[in-house]
Amino acid sequence: MKVLVAYLSQTGNTRKVAEAIYDAIEADKELKPLGEVESLEGFDLAFIGFPIHAANPASDAKAFLEEKARGRKVAVFITHSNPEDGENVARYLENCRASLVDVDLVGMFNCQGEMAEAIMEFLSKSENPRHRQFAEYAPQTKGQPDESRLEKARAFAREVMEKVC
Ligand SMILES: Cc1cc2nc3c(=O)[nH]c(=O)nc-3n(C[C@H](O)[C@H](O)[C@H](O)COP(=O)(O)O)c2cc1C
Repeated sequence: MKVLVAYLSQTGNTRKVAEAIYDAIEADKELKPLGEVESLEGFDLAFIGFPIHAANPASDAKAFLEEKARGRKVAVFITHSNPEDGENVARYLENCRASLVDVDLVGMFNCQGEMAEAIMEFLSKSENPRHRQFAEYAPQTKGQPDESRLEKARAFAREVMEKVC
């Protein structure tokens, strides 16, 4: 069985989750930035990870899922700065599913990731009160994904592997 772990990550959070998933997989495996993945041909399973931007998959990830994941076996992992039990997260997951048409989806994992300082500053100066409200939340995201979240990501990877093999 050949497994790919591919990730899109602007500030490093999703990359950390990708590395944890990669470490937990016991199979022939590759870890790659999503931008270096031409196609999923030759892989029996692909873990694909990306951050949530404006409640949706980051645009390059959305394009990849819609253009290159059809007909493939895929497990998705996402990071977002809302806490996992936040009211918006169900919508993020739904928006991801909307990009997974004709995909054999074998699992989804999501966890909180630190909001980068530059993003927080940008949002805190926004005219949009929802953006400013979102920025207030940033200190609570510091240090995420932490070790407990990375351990959950490893457990997710093992679960998916058991299911697929
Ligand atoms: C342009 C932009 C939009 C974002 N929108 C959201 C959002 O709607 N909800 C959320 O929870 N986090 C949002 N975030 C925060 C990121 O999803 C979060 O920090 C993520 O862990 C970043 O992952 P990365 O370090 O792999 O790039 C946004 C970040 C950026 C840069």
